[in-house]
Amino acid sequence: MGPRVTGTSAEEAAVNLIKERLEGYGYEVSLQDVALPDVKSGSLTIGDDDIEIKITGGAGVTSPEGVTAELFNAKFGKEEDFTEDVVGKIALISRGDGITFQDKVDRAAAAGAVGVIIYNNIENAVLSFSANAQIPAGGISQEAGLALLGRIGEEVTLTAVIESAPTSSNIIATKSPANGKNDAEIVYVSAHIDSVPGSPGANDNATGTAAALELARVLKDYSFDKEIRFVFVGAEEIGLVGSNYYVSTLSEEELSRSIANFNMDMAATAWEEATAIYTNTLDGKSNLVTETANRVAAIIGTPSQLVLFERGASDHVGFHNVGIPAANFIRREPGTHKLEPYYHTPQDTIQYVSVERLKEMIDLVGASVYLVAIDN
Ligand code: BES
Ligand code: ZN
Repeated sequence: MGPRVTGTSAEEAAVNLIKERLEGYGYEVSLQDVALPDVKSGSLTIGDDDIEIKITGGAGVTSPEGVTAELFNAKFGKEEDFTEDVVGKIALISRGDGITFQDKVDRAAAAGAVGVIIYNNIENAVLSFSANAQIPAGGISQEAGLALLGRIGEEVTLTAVIESAPTSSNIIATKSPANGKNDAEIVYVSAHIDSVPGSPGANDNATGTAAALELARVLKDYSFDKEIRFVFVGAEEIGLVGSNYYVSTLSEEELSRSIANFNMDMAATAWEEATAIYTNTLDGKSNLVTETANRVAAIIGTPSQLVLFERGASDHVGFHNVGIPAANFIRREPGTHKLEPYYHTPQDTIQYVSVERLKEMIDLVGASVYLVAIDN
């Protein structure tokens, strides 16, 4: 698997590959479509001048001709910066002064502005910012913003149109309980498929994906009275979107049967200092997942030290938030808690993945899932 940036055809290719593997192991596989935020683009013109603008995906759209209105100087976007003079105008706002982008945009919209332009407060960088709004919004450079301050009251034209509406997918393979009962407890194994732009995503997270696939293959031939679900999630890297969506689709009845989530993310770096396996929980407390892993480590003699640690930033968060005991399995340097230096860089390649450590993770998590699934 090469890079699998969220919402791209490369991510989709990985989804199809995983689906085929799971079907090859004999699973019934279901795919879940995950909607991603729209990608928007647009333009900003004043007189004959075109100004480079990054349109905010979560903000509003215009007609292809755009909205033409007078430019209004809303300074830093404090409450008092929006006089009633702003109605029907496009607000020009500086980044900074401790006010969030969302607050700046919200205040402009509430005051009656028809568009928002925020300029950077550092040099040589076109600002890109996130905010949700009905009116169109975008970011420009500091230089462009300062130039526009000299043209307040002139008309500007802002366009914002949808360029694409990307989607991602979750893949779910279910191993039904051997006794055929429909009230069996559910154990989840999860790993994210996608990677960040500019990185091959070998350790983050082809390792977790491969480990979850291998567990699906091996556990297929065992019988349990509990249900096991292998959940391969998309769109983790843009804010845990796939896993949050997955848990939102679980019914009350399914939630009441859900007892554990084993999430693997960055499972096998070869980086020397990452000698420990961390079991990260959102609240830093032990739970069925971390306790079982500790029991298993003692039984099978897992070479690495296990460290319980308080951390989110991966797909165990969504499971935890709906009340399912959850933990992320990840390697770090004990004491400093550091991740490998290749994280989210072009160096996150298979060269820095350790096969021995991958096997260690598969043994640890596999035996833990086994123990939870077999327990009465
Ligand atoms: N695998 C990483 C990061 C990570 C670091 C997970 C430490 C667990 C512990 C994950 O894919 C990631 O990059 N997460 C983002 C946050 C997420 C909400 C987009 C991060 O840590 O910046
Ligand atoms: Zn990751």
